[in-house]
Amino acid sequence: MPLKFFISAFLFCSIFFTVSAQQKTWSNKVDSVLHLMTLEEKIGQLNQYTDDLTLTGPATVDNDKASQIKNGQVGSLLNSLGTTRVRSWQTMAMQSRLKIPLLFGQDVIHGYKTTFPIPLAEAASWDMDAIELSARIAATEASASGINWTFAPMVDIARDPRWGRVMEGAGEDTYLGSLIAKARVTGFQGKKLGGLDAVMACVKHFAAYGAAVGGRDYNSVDMSERQLWEVYLPPFKAALDAGAATFMNSFNDVNGIPATGNAYLQRTILKGKWNFTGFVVSDWGSIGEMVNHGYVKNDYEAALSAIRAGSDMDMESRSYKNNLAKLVKDNKIPVSLIDDAVKRILLKKFELGLFDDPFRFCNTTREQQALNNAAHVKAARAIAAKSIVLLKNENHLLPLSKSTKTIAFIGPLVKPLLQNKGFWDVTIPGVDSNFIVSQWKGLQNKVGASSTLLYAKGCDIEGDNKAGFAEAIAIAKQADVVILSIGEKRDMSGEAKSRSNINIPGVQEDLLKELLATGKPVVVLINAGRPLVFNYTADHAPAILYTWWLGSEAGNAIADVLFGDVNPSAKLPMTFPLSVGQVPIYYNHFNTGRPATNDNNHIYNSSYTDLSIFPKYAFGYGLSYTDFKYSDLKISKNKMTAKDQIDVAVTITNTGKYDGEEVVQLYLHNKVASVVRPIKELKDFQKIQIATGASKTIHFQINAQKLSFYNQQLAWVTEPGDFELMIGSSSADIRLKTEFELVK
Ligand code: GLC
Repeated sequence: MPLKFFISAFLFCSIFFTVSAQQKTWSNKVDSVLHLMTLEEKIGQLNQYTDDLTLTGPATVDNDKASQIKNGQVGSLLNSLGTTRVRSWQTMAMQSRLKIPLLFGQDVIHGYKTTFPIPLAEAASWDMDAIELSARIAATEASASGINWTFAPMVDIARDPRWGRVMEGAGEDTYLGSLIAKARVTGFQGKKLGGLDAVMACVKHFAAYGAAVGGRDYNSVDMSERQLWEVYLPPFKAALDAGAATFMNSFNDVNGIPATGNAYLQRTILKGKWNFTGFVVSDWGSIGEMVNHGYVKNDYEAALSAIRAGSDMDMESRSYKNNLAKLVKDNKIPVSLIDDAVKRILLKKFELGLFDDPFRFCNTTREQQALNNAAHVKAARAIAAKSIVLLKNENHLLPLSKSTKTIAFIGPLVKPLLQNKGFWDVTIPGVDSNFIVSQWKGLQNKVGASSTLLYAKGCDIEGDNKAGFAEAIAIAKQADVVILSIGEKRDMSGEAKSRSNINIPGVQEDLLKELLATGKPVVVLINAGRPLVFNYTADHAPAILYTWWLGSEAGNAIADVLFGDVNPSAKLPMTFPLSVGQVPIYYNHFNTGRPATNDNNHIYNSSYTDLSIFPKYAFGYGLSYTDFKYSDLKISKNKMTAKDQIDVAVTITNTGKYDGEEVVQLYLHNKVASVVRPIKELKDFQKIQIATGASKTIHFQINAQKLSFYNQQLAWVTEPGDFELMIGSSSADIRLKTEFELVK
């Protein structure tokens, strides 16, 4: 046996025993602390309050948080920012009898001081390394500023753009969403929890929050268990497998039981089948809100239901603080139920090193270095450019030439700063909110020295005031090209921001019409946190970039793409409807018994009599300044068993003028199975860089995992049968296809 085998075996064993020894040490330490705690102190660890600095939910005013912390009645704070403020709260915790340190949580959703594109925009990059880096930088900045826990990633699959929180997730696809969930957890937690630049991830919202009826936030969710397991749970499992330290439950009821009191979700699945050893925090007030749900009579019963169902920490409802001791006294719950929750929380505090040094995340020098870091800004600019989707580019109007003489930059989103941050930015008191490159500044930086730049607002985002049109038209007439930046407001998407009408608001498209009438070429930038409906723009503007909300470097990233320093490569992570009347609309739907395959026939098939069945833009759609040809699809065999795999090869050629990246997507269709299967499902993709004129042959592997699904008994199975394999540039642009058979 070669020596290297013995060396690697020794290394493996030593690492294994070290880790498990460490876990043993921590668990002994947790037990030793638990043994010292009174019941009131145990309940204190399950109690989380917001700092009143910034509120992210309905406020409950109580002014004795400081004394509660000094008495060991609080386990965590959220929304407390900056080493100074965090240090002050932690100092109070050190005055408690047992000196148990506080956890500090924050919604670091897409950056801390350096703001990255909103998560849905990052999802459009299909670039896992970039997405992981974004989370890594966010964690580095947040942890330097006192935070050791972020309430992210949000991994809720969403098929309804009326729901404002689509901006916070990874879109409609389970496969893409699962990869992104893993990338974000890995980014936030870094190599090892306990590192000074690591924060605990918090996978949310468990579960199926994105399936709220009508796209209305907090609304009910009702679905088959099969759909829950097949579509909505996998990203949570991917996040857990990536080592996520915590979970957050959701406001919604799932099949009639609020997630917070849902033992099937939190105990049977999460802590049971999935063996999750971290802890679950409720969403803001969601324990107490079970009274509103009509699931419990009062707060006492709410606390009973939640602790039994596996909600470990109570964010802001005070149900645990006010009722758990009485529930124990009334013999409604054993102390062991509370002990389990406390141990889960204490273990994380040990893993974070907070017992060794409660102030380890409060170093002002490190904070200053981390928050003003040129490398972070550079990374933000790069991923922002990767997130911009080129929707249209008639006659190759884009990229613009840097020697364009006169450019008119028009619209209500040209000059604002904060709008570019989107929802869930972190507003840090005293931190310069001008630390954002506006779209106007980005243009100036790019071509201000060589071109004449003209500006007009034109109109507001909302309202019917057209008084600004004349000025906009006048400067358009002077320009060689017009850039129009329109869209919704950044706070028109996000939490509690559901919209029944997802058109571009106000008179912005009327302004476009007037500008087009000047005969000048118009490039439209659409800023939004969700898929919008903009058919006039889509049908009449010669070039369109979907710029979402791109964060601190928005202006520079947009200019990089406008002038070709970056060739756009993003692909839509959600279907864009033709009309809100089509919603919910998503690509991986079932065929039905009377499939509608075109818009010409509405007789006895699953179509609308008054609207096309096709979306405006399909899942996975996005153009490039160059073109890609797909050829030579080969599979290693056309029959495989579940123990086998099929090797797939396809050649992509860059036939255009620019180097570029293409997201080559692989879809499968299981043609016949014991439960109906989607007409196609994304099962793999590769984002590849190809120089102009060059070709690349890329490879995929089809294995049993990619062919499996939940059958009627919720077993994860493969079934022999025929499969269609499709390779495409989007879910609706299938370039090559073939078939194979799965045999016994
Ligand atoms: C909010 C959100 C949740 C967030 C929490 C703390 O209501 O639903 O995503 O993490 O409260 O701000």
